[in-house]
Amino acid sequence: MAHRSGRHFLQIPGPTNVPDRVLRAMDRPTIDHRGPDFAALGQEVLAGLRTIFRTKGAVFIFPGSGTGAWEAAIVNTLSPGDKVLMFETGQFAALWRAMAGRLGLIVDFVPGDWRHGVAAEQVEQRLKADREHQIKAVMVVHNETSTGVTTRIPPIRAAIDRVGHPALLMVDTISSLASIDYRHDEWGVDVTVAGSQKGLMLPPGLGFNAASAKALAASESNRLVRSYWDWREMLKPNQAGFFPYTPATNMLYGLREALAMLQEEGLANVFARHDRHAAATRAAACAWGLELLAIDPAEYSSSLTALLMPDGHDADRLRRIILDQFDLSLGAGLGKVAGKVFRIGHLGDFNDLMLTGTLSGVEMGLGLAAVPHRAGGILAAMDLLAGKDAATRGSTKIAAG
Ligand SMILES: Cc1ncc(COP(=O)(O)O)c(C=O)c1O
Repeated sequence: MAHRSGRHFLQIPGPTNVPDRVLRAMDRPTIDHRGPDFAALGQEVLAGLRTIFRTKGAVFIFPGSGTGAWEAAIVNTLSPGDKVLMFETGQFAALWRAMAGRLGLIVDFVPGDWRHGVAAEQVEQRLKADREHQIKAVMVVHNETSTGVTTRIPPIRAAIDRVGHPALLMVDTISSLASIDYRHDEWGVDVTVAGSQKGLMLPPGLGFNAASAKALAASESNRLVRSYWDWREMLKPNQAGFFPYTPATNMLYGLREALAMLQEEGLANVFARHDRHAAATRAAACAWGLELLAIDPAEYSSSLTALLMPDGHDADRLRRIILDQFDLSLGAGLGKVAGKVFRIGHLGDFNDLMLTGTLSGVEMGLGLAAVPHRAGGILAAMDLLAGKDAATRGSTKIAAG
């Protein structure tokens, strides 16, 4: 590959751009993971993570990807043959379901159209019908990265509570933690699953769980086999800031820096920034005349936007042209929507001009790929970012003469 000048635009919905501050924080000698300096680092990152998950309970850090953290959630709480309730919101729900099956669970997988989140009414119906409480867990993907649809978690908790069902609530926040509002304790979630490479602005390589007291109690008596992922092995050394095996020390330096950055910006501001960039992206899509995969505005994702291609046009060809011409990576359509959608990631370490650069690349690419669209998406996004509406756009006139 020839050298390309300037920065590559990594606008897939994760891994996200790693800020220089985080890269520099990691660029340090690895220390003794059983020594006193490490203890302080371990305690600091575990405490900091609790503030991001919004929990006072246990959090776990694994060297691994999000998929590992999915597995940890399952093997620490459930037993072979347990029934679980899952919903086909998109590719990641389908993958989590496949894993659950391979681990010996019986999955009631409610079909979906990949354009909606989980409907609380459906949760309520299924749990109400389960009079013998055979369903042991309700497992939901908060932000479906394959579709750009965010499920609202509080109505699901409320549905479980309305029927008085004892199932655990497990939520995948791999592409929402630290980019979309999320509250593990307040929303009554039992296990939250997350990863390092999205809202947390780190490279891939860490997986996280947050666990409620009820989930921890389940881990004392459940019967799925585990060793590497065992929460019980983690809890004791974690109290002193240590881990039962060699942790990813330099990733933890990065995590400490990322947590500091999130704290400096303030979580509410982080979420508002993501909301605003998502709104500007949707304004561009609307001006281009491209349809969003997400149908319900209440479920629009703030971390990514998935756009449908007009019939007969291949999303992967468009992405290839944009990568070749403008050094901009966009997310591919996954699974059932492969070739039909492309995804713009607008999460993590990101600002207005990175977004306008990204949207310019998309608009130019649409032209080069001869995809039917209207020009002006980038202007619509700029108006939104500059706080103008179309009616006032022309009001800053150039002085005559
Ligand atoms: C919502 C969601 N769940 C699970 C995963 C799998 O995580 P990983 O690829 O880190 O194993 C991803 C990855 O993109 C994701 O977006």
